[in-house]
Amino acid sequence: MSYPVLIAAELKGLLEPDQFAGLDVTWLPTDHPIGKGDWVAIVPLLSRWVGGTELKHLPKLRIVANCAVGYDNVDVVAAEMRQVIVTNTPDVLTDATADLTWTLILVCARRIVEAIDLLRGGQWTGWHPEQLLGLELRGRTLGLFGAGRIGQAVGRRALPFGLRIIYAARTPKPEFERDTGAMRVDWTRLLAESDILSLHAPSTPETKGLVNRETLAQMKPGAVLINTARGDLIREEALAIALEQGRLGAAGLDVYADEPAIHARLRAAPRTVLLPHIGSATHDTRRKMAAIAVANVQAVLKGEPPLTPVFR
Ligand code: NAP
Ligand code: GLV
Repeated sequence: MSYPVLIAAELKGLLEPDQFAGLDVTWLPTDHPIGKGDWVAIVPLLSRWVGGTELKHLPKLRIVANCAVGYDNVDVVAAEMRQVIVTNTPDVLTDATADLTWTLILVCARRIVEAIDLLRGGQWTGWHPEQLLGLELRGRTLGLFGAGRIGQAVGRRALPFGLRIIYAARTPKPEFERDTGAMRVDWTRLLAESDILSLHAPSTPETKGLVNRETLAQMKPGAVLINTARGDLIREEALAIALEQGRLGAAGLDVYADEPAIHARLRAAPRTVLLPHIGSATHDTRRKMAAIAVANVQAVLKGEPPLTPVFR
């Protein structure tokens, strides 16, 4: 028996044929709509919205196996109502995303983009004691908004840099606190005390727009804002204005509210390090993400429990 499934065409190169054995795969390019059909499973990229309308057109669907840990592109409520399982790809991308977060922290703190531009632009006239002075990390405070898999991995990487760690999350993380000395604080205190504020919560109705004109004004002057979570946690125009006015030291972003579009004012703002959503972009991690997504499909179609279901 061969099951008809839809898999994002961009994942083909990351999968071995035996991983989709037994599946009658239609490879779906990003710019093609899902349309109507008898597919029993779909493996979308995070850039594809899978909502009530799409689900209605797939009456035989049993699983949406999102190829990302974030699943804000899937209407989980609509899926649940139709008894469609939703899965994601946790854990395998934690290290890659935490590493990229640290790349942004260091590049922002030490003004690396400005330094490269100065040199490549032929403007460097030699060593100067006050040239491109950045933020010393030791003794400063790293604030984590969200301390799940990635937030904690970012926190653990902070120890050798001598940073104090504070975090905000819905629930306390005793093991993380014990291992790192991190302290749980509320959002207001996180804003007020962080020299570096790094976002690691999913996009939800509660987190969308949390970083806005009012909350940016509560951050320390010169603080660094990092976002490798989801773009819509930040009101981008407000962030651009804070950067233009020199109130923030820098912003390091990997994600945007309307990807792949970048807010024009943010793109032009000073002291920004803007990356094209590459948090999990290592060879190993992307292969593992694709493998888990398809393994979830295989499990569900065999009547077994999914490996990594999404719970609301
Ligand atoms: P996770 O383990 O589920 O952690 C999420 C954290 O956010 C948890 O600590 C959770 O608190 C906290 N949180 C959720 N809602 C909150 C709220 N309203 N207030 C305060 N804290 C809240 O997820 P993860 O694996 O670390 O991934 C985090 C996010 O990173 C994903 O959802 C995805 O959007 C993004 N991501 C981006 C990339 C990239 O390429 N840039 C790669 C991977 C992931 P509790 O623990 O108390 O529930
Ligand atoms: C990437 O952004 C993910 O959520 O996996």
